[in-house]
Amino acid sequence: MTDSVHKEFVDSFKTELKVASPGRINLIGEHTDYNKGFVLPTAIDKHIIFQFQKNNTPDTCNVYSATFDKMMSFNLNEVAPSDKEWENYILGVVSQIQLRDKQIAGFDCIIESYLPMGSGISSSAALECGLAFGLNQIFNLGLEKIDLVKIGQKAEHTYVGTQCGIMDQFASVMSEKGHVILLDCDSIAHQMIPADFGDYQVLLLNTNVSHNLADSAYNTRVAECASVVKAIAKNNPEVTSLREATFEMLAAVKSEITPIAFKRATYVLEENARVEKAVKALKEKDLTTFGELMYGSHNGLQNDYEVSCEELDFLAAFSKNYDQVLGARMMGGGFGGCTINLIHKDGVAEFVADATKAYKEKFNIDLTSFTAVPSQGTAIIN
Ligand code: GLA
Repeated sequence: MTDSVHKEFVDSFKTELKVASPGRINLIGEHTDYNKGFVLPTAIDKHIIFQFQKNNTPDTCNVYSATFDKMMSFNLNEVAPSDKEWENYILGVVSQIQLRDKQIAGFDCIIESYLPMGSGISSSAALECGLAFGLNQIFNLGLEKIDLVKIGQKAEHTYVGTQCGIMDQFASVMSEKGHVILLDCDSIAHQMIPADFGDYQVLLLNTNVSHNLADSAYNTRVAECASVVKAIAKNNPEVTSLREATFEMLAAVKSEITPIAFKRATYVLEENARVEKAVKALKEKDLTTFGELMYGSHNGLQNDYEVSCEELDFLAAFSKNYDQVLGARMMGGGFGGCTINLIHKDGVAEFVADATKAYKEKFNIDLTSFTAVPSQGTAIIN
């Protein structure tokens, strides 16, 4: 950073506020959020760090990514989508704040990311929510936490172009240390559940691949699910999402929808049921059942929802050779990123070593791994 042409910007920066915005894991409940179903995410102990200062101009903003040594400057009166993807996360958030008639003025920001990008731990939500959180603070905008969540999600819809659900932003902002969140993505009611894994830990294995299908395939899945809702709603007008659909309703429209849409919707209904069972198992400290449900989730994502990839499938299958691993599955949007594994702490070293070797042999790619601790959401730090 010191050799950068932006050294002067960094050196003269007088930090008024420092914010840490975390990545997230999701124990179970994948691709259910935009179907108004259930998810079980939490923030983790890895963050994007933001420094903010007001720069005493009415409308000039400078945002520097120290991680990528990239600077963007823009005028608050001319906020519009950019052709650079990372800038759209920033501009999208600013635009959403403006749309809520909240007044901000010129600011400077330095961003350092400790979240591996494309690894499915939602560095994008951390970026959106950390920025919204910081601007809310320094300009006293009076936004509630849930507003920050919605600003992040809307920024993604409008400027980034992914029709994402609410899970990532909700987890990034709302999480509490030592808990997972059972979030009902319909009512947005949530319950904090102690992440009581006993001698077990959450281990992420990063495939270090990110197949570029991810964005378009994501929006296709959203549309496929919507097509099923539309078919069901013809005879059941009260149904506005797959959350409200039943297996009977789905069976009744089987001939009217494509076989692919039928598979997608079957997965969503099954996954919602799995989340409810998983929460019951977690509360009863029945981690064996919890792990089996994780494998069930992966199976559905691989075969019915078809958002996995061979690298993720390999790691999920490989984990089955280890008694110490109770469950594993792909996590997040899919097509790359991490598997999430529930593993006995004594088994981590051996499993990581073996998986790394086998993965390298199979794909000639270096696997990376890290344990993830359920942690607090976006917060001010010193
Ligand atoms: C991405 C999206 C989330 C969610 C997951 C899949 O992370 O941002 O809203 O849909 O994929 O569960």
